[in-house]
Amino acid sequence: MADLSVKIAGVDFKNPVLASSCPPTKDVRHAKKAIKAGCGGIVMKSITVDPWFTKYPYPWVKLLNWERRPEEPRYTPDGFSFYSRGVMYTPDQFIPQLKETEKAAKEADCVLIGSIMGYTFEDWVSLSQMVDSEVETDMIECNLGCPHPQEWTGETGGKLAGSTPKVAAEVIRRVKENSSVPVIAKLTPETGDMVAVAKAVKEAGADVLTVMNRFLGFKIDIETGQPELSGFAGIGGPWMKPLTLRWISKITQVMDTPILGSNGAMDGRDTVEFMMAGAKAVQFCTAILVDGYGVVGRIIKEVEGFMEEKGYGSLDEYIGAAIKHIHEYKQIPELPVLLASVDAERCDGCARCVGSCFYDAINIVEKLAIIDPESCVGCKYCEQVCPHEAITMVEGVREKYLKAMEPKF
Ligand SMILES: Cc1cc2nc3c(=O)[nH]c(=O)nc-3n(C[C@H](O)[C@H](O)[C@H](O)COP(=O)(O)O)c2cc1C
Ligand code: SF4
Ligand code: SF4
Repeated sequence: MADLSVKIAGVDFKNPVLASSCPPTKDVRHAKKAIKAGCGGIVMKSITVDPWFTKYPYPWVKLLNWERRPEEPRYTPDGFSFYSRGVMYTPDQFIPQLKETEKAAKEADCVLIGSIMGYTFEDWVSLSQMVDSEVETDMIECNLGCPHPQEWTGETGGKLAGSTPKVAAEVIRRVKENSSVPVIAKLTPETGDMVAVAKAVKEAGADVLTVMNRFLGFKIDIETGQPELSGFAGIGGPWMKPLTLRWISKITQVMDTPILGSNGAMDGRDTVEFMMAGAKAVQFCTAILVDGYGVVGRIIKEVEGFMEEKGYGSLDEYIGAAIKHIHEYKQIPELPVLLASVDAERCDGCARCVGSCFYDAINIVEKLAIIDPESCVGCKYCEQVCPHEAITMVEGVREKYLKAMEPKF
């Protein structure tokens, strides 16, 4: 049996599948469902200080590119977006919820993580003190990534703090001084250089990073000319995965602070991919929102199944495994050049590949695609569009490649 346990900043997780800070952990009732579903850890919904945020902005949701399939009610389209806003609770409302969740989490060996979001440095400190003194959480996550405060208020709320290395570091330094448990900095993608923020919060004492919270987006219904949800809202979905993976890997390349992946993971294979990029565990929000808590057990089984199939005994065997294979742009010339090759048995001359070749390297002659080796630059595009898998890539000749790459204006 594959061992799914992982130790992060001294805290033992029975598995790497976590519920993130979001509606599925919005109170003890929901948190218990995540615990019962088998999560290795749960991050409770963020606590904040502004009572306005307990009722507004309306927690409206718009599913974008959501194809309805009445015959398959649980069908989840690959490219959908979860476009939404949400509310948070104040400490007086939420600390009792955290306390009540404590026992259920302990009994199920599930790591309990509190989450806070201040507006000023003082708020961050008082929130961390409250969580630390009143609840036995295993870790505390600082939500430096909430995209909403930029639309209404706050000096250092959510991403307003997380997008500037100095401010983010100051938040973490102050929270760290007031916490007896490991401190997690949840980062925002809405910053120029997430690696710079990661380095700054690490120096300030962050024990763990969560990479990453969501973007704010904008969507219009062109039939009515009206914005969806009446304005800006948070946006995410499975299509976010490659963006998140890039930042996880960029940070993993330069520092060893443990990372929790968040944003775009939907299933067990995504979990493995996040971990190969460097994440030690993966948080789920949208997957639970659209598929229900049952998805947690499925994800755990999928990870286990993958590991057994590949012969991995533990997570450490593949965490960060892809990092050493990343070629920096300047190393690309070390890679072999490629050339397209057509299997005449499979090609029916449909010409689908011709329209995809922007180097004019394919001609159809007597219902067969013919590649011009003097023009083909080995871009691999035709290989993927061919409906009959008639094209494969073989090693090319560098001199020919360089010649083919000369401008032909
Ligand atoms: C409706 C909603 C509410 C959220 N609330 C919080 C929150 O209170 N604190 C936080 O750190 N992240 C919050 N998030 C962000 C999620 O925790 C998560 O980082 C994000 O949705 C990306 O992960 P996913 O692709 O698994 O959804 C929220 C997300 C959604 C959709
Ligand atoms: S797309 Fe494939 S089958 Fe069609 S012409 Fe090109 S190689 Fe032949
Ligand atoms: S690999 Fe690229 S350049 Fe070569 S034939 Fe195919 S599409 Fe054209």
